[in-house]
Amino acid sequence: MARLAGKTAIITGSGNGMGKAMALRFAQEGAQVLVSDRDEAGVQATVDAITAAGGKAVGDVTDVSDEAAVKALVHRAETEFGHLDILVNNAGIVDNFKTVVSATDESWDKVLKINLYAPFWSCREAVPIMEAQENGGVILNISSVGGFFGGRGGAAYVTSKHAVIGLTRNIAATYGVKGKVRANVLAPGSVVTNIGATITDPDPVGQKALQASGGFESPQGSGEDMADAALYLVSDEAKFVNGSVLVADGGWTAL
Ligand SMILES: NC(=O)c1ccc[n+]([C@@H]2O[C@H](COP(=O)([O-])OP(=O)(O)OC[C@H]3O[C@@H](n4cnc5c(N)ncnc54)[C@H](O)[C@@H]3O)[C@@H](O)[C@H]2O)c1
Repeated sequence: MARLAGKTAIITGSGNGMGKAMALRFAQEGAQVLVSDRDEAGVQATVDAITAAGGKAVGDVTDVSDEAAVKALVHRAETEFGHLDILVNNAGIVDNFKTVVSATDESWDKVLKINLYAPFWSCREAVPIMEAQENGGVILNISSVGGFFGGRGGAAYVTSKHAVIGLTRNIAATYGVKGKVRANVLAPGSVVTNIGATITDPDPVGQKALQASGGFESPQGSGEDMADAALYLVSDEAKFVNGSVLVADGGWTAL
């Protein structure tokens, strides 16, 4: 039987990159997917790919830095599908390796809104919905190896990715141990996606720390590698996995 048969999922940032790979993989395993991204063309391309493969998806254009839009997105899953089983907070941006000295209030806010506030807002809406369902629900937040090492991004990125681990563990402890909502983190290493192209003006001081960690030669994963790891965490096979951080980095942080 398909591993996500009968389940519904929201995946933010699923118009491209690893979010798109997750959407395709989850749909292949029987989930109905609410494909959400601020990139309208990306949303359409993901929905088309899922439909062409015989899966079920609904497209949604949402900018997750907008709190009201995030709230509407979560409730849209209920309207479209009648229930919400899986929420993946994947949409994220990087910060040009800006250090604590070169980051501005504006650059800091931009990163924190998308990488941290958006998961907070969506989880705040999703947890009560999931708690009220007989079979509960699953949250998967996408962090990074920058979520527990200092030099894998700029100050705002590293802060946001550390914080999202804390948020997830708090949800796991509060609503998962005796409740119905499992919450876990996937922490990718270096994955080949479009995100690298958004590093347009890297701070050389910030980049030095990445270089020192072997970052310029780190193992390279694919979106599909991340989708397989994510699939495990959101599936019932991981029913006893709650509050965990799964590192998928090809061993980069084992070096
Ligand atoms: N690629 C890597 O090496 C890597 C490593 C560690 C963690 N991550 C994390 O994985 C996640 C996915 O990254 P990716 O590599 O697939 O990047 P990507 O740039 O290929 O895809 C990110 C998607 O998020 C969307 N997005 C960005 N801001 C948004 C917003 N405000 N509202 C809605 N959608 C928005 C983009 O349009 C894009 O489709 C991010 O959270 C990122 O921090 C990536």
